[in-house]
Amino acid sequence: MFSSTTLTGSKPEQYAQLLAQARALVHGESDRIANAANLSALVYHALPDLNWVGFYFFDGTELVVGPFQGLPACVRIPLHKGVCGAAASSRQTQRIEDVDAFPGHIACDSASRSELVVPLLHGDTLVGVFDLDSPLHARFSVEDQQGLEAIAQAFLESLQ
Ligand code: SME
Repeated sequence: MFSSTTLTGSKPEQYAQLLAQARALVHGESDRIANAANLSALVYHALPDLNWVGFYFFDGTELVVGPFQGLPACVRIPLHKGVCGAAASSRQTQRIEDVDAFPGHIACDSASRSELVVPLLHGDTLVGVFDLDSPLHARFSVEDQQGLEAIAQAFLESLQ
């Protein structure tokens, strides 16, 4: 049985602990649905002030919702739409302090105030995005971005 431990110390220390838990969770498994499901659950329950954590996978045309924790979400997101589409098409993490100020933001959950979306890339190939929503304005700092990008990388490495 997986037992999570409470994260302690500074934010970088907490993310180091969370990354170790993430790596342990996907160790020896390469199924992307299984690993995306478990990582969504891990992050959703470990970090405060989140209302949605999950994955969208690129099907060759658009992003399609994958495993997540939170309320039911939009199923398909074109690459030119929303924060997820912006992360996928620019291939850059989108750290949005105020989603209402982001042109084209897609409100799956009206509680969301800020959002972080990390693109998932295997070399040049777009795999999808890792998306986190918060009910708090400006929930995600640069340290959160770095910590969550490392977890996204652990997910990508698990697929090899
Ligand atoms: N807000 C996202 C849509 C996905 S949900 O947050 C789960 C966006 O604008 O792309």
